[in-house]
Amino acid sequence: MAKKLRLGVMLSGGGTTLLNLLDRIDRGTLDAEVVVVVSSLSTARGREHAERHGIPTHVVRRKDFASTEAFSDAVSAQLDAAGVDLVCLAGFMVMWHVPERYLGRTMNIHPALIPSFCGQSMYGHLVHEAVVAKGVKLSGCTVHFVNNEYDAGPIIVQKAVPVAYEDTPDDVARRVFVQECDAYPEAIQLFAEGRLRIEGDRVRILPKAP
Ligand code: GAR
Repeated sequence: MAKKLRLGVMLSGGGTTLLNLLDRIDRGTLDAEVVVVVSSLSTARGREHAERHGIPTHVVRRKDFASTEAFSDAVSAQLDAAGVDLVCLAGFMVMWHVPERYLGRTMNIHPALIPSFCGQSMYGHLVHEAVVAKGVKLSGCTVHFVNNEYDAGPIIVQKAVPVAYEDTPDDVARRVFVQECDAYPEAIQLFAEGRLRIEGDRVRILPKAP
C-alpha cells in the first residue's frame, strides 16, 4: 500500500474542519493520516476532539513567546518532529511565519471566494457578516497554498454558493461549510496524488495518472 500523506493540522477553535478531515479519512476517501495537531489555545474545542481521537496534540500559545519568529519556530519544531508532509491550517487564528521548507506544502481554507472578503481581520463569522452586508449574490470557500501574506497564496480549489437577500450570516455560514467539507479534502487528495503544480501565482491541476 502507498505511504499515506502525513497531515499536521493547526487550529485555534471549534475543530469542525479537523473532524471533517478525520471523517473523510475514516470513509476512505482521503489517503492521509493526521499525525499531529497544533493548537494555539489550550481551551480550543478542536484540541479536545484531537485528543479524543488519540492524535498527538501540542498547545503552542503566542503569548508564551517574545516574538512571532520565536512562536513560529516552536510551531515548526512540532511539525518537524511529527514528520509532517502537508500542513493544514484549520481555523488557525495566529500569525505563523511559514518557513521556506513548508512553503508549497501548507494549505489554508478560507470561507469566502478569495480575493473577496479576505485579509487580516477577515475570518470566521466576520466574513459571512461582511458578505451579507455587501449584498453579493455568491459566496463560497477557497483552499489555497499559504505564503507569508494573509489569504494571498496560489488558489487550489474554490466552491461557490448562492446568497439570497433574506439570508442571515448564519445561513451563509452553514451553506459555505457544506462546501468546505468537500473542498478541503479534495485539495488535500490532489496533493496526495502529486497533482498540484505551483506555476507562479497559479496552481495547475494535473490529470490523474492512467
Ligand atoms: C474554517 O472552517 C474556516 O471557515 C475559517 O475558520 C473555520 C474553522 O472552524 N477559516 C478562516 O476564517 C481563515 N481565515 P473550526 O475551528 O470549527 O474548524
